[in-house]
Amino acid sequence: MEIFKTPQETTEYIKSLQGSIGFVPTMGALHKGHLELINKARNENDFVIVSIFVNPTQFLPGEDLDKYPRKLEADLEICKRAGVNAVFTPISQNIYSEDEISIKAPKIKGYILEGFFRPRHFDGVLQVVNKLFNIVKPTRAYFGKKDAQQLYLIKQMVKNFFFDLEIVPVDTIREKDGLALSSRNIYLSNEERKRALSISKALKRAAKLSTTTTDIEKIKKEMLEILDVDRLQYIAFVDNDFNYINKITHGNTIILIAAYIGQTRLIDNIWL
Ligand code: PAJ
Repeated sequence: MEIFKTPQETTEYIKSLQGSIGFVPTMGALHKGHLELINKARNENDFVIVSIFVNPTQFLPGEDLDKYPRKLEADLEICKRAGVNAVFTPISQNIYSEDEISIKAPKIKGYILEGFFRPRHFDGVLQVVNKLFNIVKPTRAYFGKKDAQQLYLIKQMVKNFFFDLEIVPVDTIREKDGLALSSRNIYLSNEERKRALSISKALKRAAKLSTTTTDIEKIKKEMLEILDVDRLQYIAFVDNDFNYINKITHGNTIILIAAYIGQTRLIDNIWL
């Protein structure tokens, strides 16, 4: 497996490849959710490239940039075993320059929900993913449905900037008890982890209820009864294009939750 630190080395390598390229952008601390993306990319492409980069521009001041888990050695081992061809793991100086041109997330859908509670977060995500796409030039790029709004905005960027690549959504991988895998789960104490489960439980309950009612207020009320979080930021019902809805349509509805358990902010969702 090749390991590259600079965009130049990566681009040179990419030029030497003949065949389709599956790309999995990550911030590392890889878990089975990331592995699912890698395996799908492996199955659908001739080559698989993974990037590992804790992107500073998508963290707001006061967020967990400094304490975000960094486990490069273990991550490289996971990639190697999963049959990844190359890992691109740059340092910030190789990606960003002073006073550079920057991308803005769309004013509405980039600034609701995650974008409301983390203003400019998606500017940073789109900025780095744009750069990564230009470096790796993938045939297909893999993104988790766990970060539903990110997935939607990246699809929009591909459309708006005419990127010639396919975005492949990947289902959320969960622990046996339902907790969505996340690099941030390691912040949770045992007691907090138990309460974190109430998020996936509320979503599961909502999905079940949606088979007998399309009434969002009714579903929301039951979700609130199940949730055992310290600070709920939102429960939202949107269609697959992130328009708010007031009635559920199966095949075109996402229910999203963002909440703090202790100091840890968790997000999860279910696609109906
Ligand atoms: P990161 O949080 O490391 O996630 C990398 C990819 O893994 C994302 O597409 C995310 O949706 C997916 N993922 C995370 N948890 C998952 C789970 N439980 N099941 C399935 N997929 C899961 O998302 C980012 O990094 C960054 O914002 C990035 C796109 C790399 C830009 O910096």
